[in-house]
Amino acid sequence: MAVQFTANEDEIFKKIADAARSCSMPCYLIGGFVRDTLLGRPTKDADFVCVGDALQLATVAAQRFKPHPKVSLFKNFGTAHFKLHDGFDLEFVGARRESYQYNSRKPEVVPGTIEDDQKRRDFTINALAISLNSHDFGALVDPFNGVEDLNQGIIKTPLNPAETFSDDPLRMMRAIRFATQLNFTIYPETLAGITEAKERIRIISQERITDELNKIIKSEKPSIGFKLLYDTGLLHIIFPQMVDLAGAEFIEGKGHKDNFYHTLQVLDNTAQRSDNLWLRWAAILHDIAKPATKRFEEGHGWTFHGHEVVGGRMVPKIFNQLKLPLGEQVKYVRKLVELHLRPISLTKENITDSAIRRLLFDAGEDIDDLMKLCESDITSKNKFKVKRYLENFELVRERCKAVEEKDSIRTWQPPITGEIIMETFGIRPSRPVGTIKDAIKDAILDGVIENNYDAAFAYMLQKGEECGLTQKTGFSSQETGKGAFTPEDSNSKEPGNENKF
Ligand code: CTP
Repeated sequence: MAVQFTANEDEIFKKIADAARSCSMPCYLIGGFVRDTLLGRPTKDADFVCVGDALQLATVAAQRFKPHPKVSLFKNFGTAHFKLHDGFDLEFVGARRESYQYNSRKPEVVPGTIEDDQKRRDFTINALAISLNSHDFGALVDPFNGVEDLNQGIIKTPLNPAETFSDDPLRMMRAIRFATQLNFTIYPETLAGITEAKERIRIISQERITDELNKIIKSEKPSIGFKLLYDTGLLHIIFPQMVDLAGAEFIEGKGHKDNFYHTLQVLDNTAQRSDNLWLRWAAILHDIAKPATKRFEEGHGWTFHGHEVVGGRMVPKIFNQLKLPLGEQVKYVRKLVELHLRPISLTKENITDSAIRRLLFDAGEDIDDLMKLCESDITSKNKFKVKRYLENFELVRERCKAVEEKDSIRTWQPPITGEIIMETFGIRPSRPVGTIKDAIKDAILDGVIENNYDAAFAYMLQKGEECGLTQKTGFSSQETGKGAFTPEDSNSKEPGNENKF
């Protein structure tokens, strides 16, 4: 069986083949490139395995391209790499008999044949090679029936799973990741091998684990991966808080829904609405505090009061534990978790503009993502209910749009800052600063005071007095003008907008 390359690929691979011939080294394309080409998924990452010195081959091969690419040589690992100007990434490695020491500092490499090399790879579909040798250029080298597994959609280790997984336990995550990305089935023995070897995942760095987890989450249907992680017991080790969501308790014949499967459905629903990894993380974490806040109230049933707030507080801890980024991303996810019940409360009748304004202020630029999360949170099996809830959310969206057009809340900031409060009362950062700031914001959003600096300043003095504070500095709006909320520095579209709500 021969594989069809594009004209560009053919040109590149002929040059590599030519270089290999001149070095008298058998050479093969291997791994992900072969798999993805056979699957019809274009890729620009190509791995070559040669029977000989990969550093020499890469150096010779690079000379055949114009402009000459810069070759990176990794002597300790016996690998080399260069990138072509059109983005093609070429990686060279010598065939090895011993297992791959991924990310290990051990430099020892025992040379081997192409088949030695193939059998130490992770899965049969990743062990496929294509010959670049003159006598059979383009022929598939498939000693482990990788093509058949590719056609049948099977993830299977070439050796017995215990051996393959002990070579690199991250492969357990990779198996589940490929099953999710490709919608493949993990071969029963391989799956059992993961369950068996799961504890070994502990020796893998959190960064590599999380990298695979994120690839699962970015897939079209991430629930496939999470179910496999759960069934094999890997999830219990890498993300126990999520496992705590599983199961339903019954008291007086009343049960609650299984929040693990609910969360997975919300995640899949979110994945259908957005590619944003962090929105998908918000879906994973939106109910994470349900186990911690669960109560059974006599005559009422199960409640999860405050799970959005407690859940919000759990977000940074979980991000830290999983080595996820702690910048804007964590703030965004926390905000969405904290706000995920708010739009539902706005689906009732007689909702005031001020309630909509508060939501727009709290969600800011992320209001659309929040609405997507809330829509994804509808997991009822009753089609009519789903339709009704979605229609209700549509009404909330329309109200948000109308209020936003009128008041430009999304990017609005209250006219009095924390600094002004501290300066006025001569106090350091402390609780009253936040209390007064929030009170001013709420008063403006609720239309209690006008949306301008002077009104806010007066209100600040009043609130300060209630907190037992007195004005230390004599400045007022006339003297400093600082923070005055004029149409220019608000983001309002029309002049005079500052007094509108
Ligand atoms: N490989 C392996 N064991 C690992 C990682 C990689 O055997 N733990 C082998 C596989 O043959 C794999 C190849 O190295 O196909 C290249 O690895 P990598 O670039 O990480 O993965 P790809 O298969 O190319 O897929 P993706 O780019 O989606 O990660």
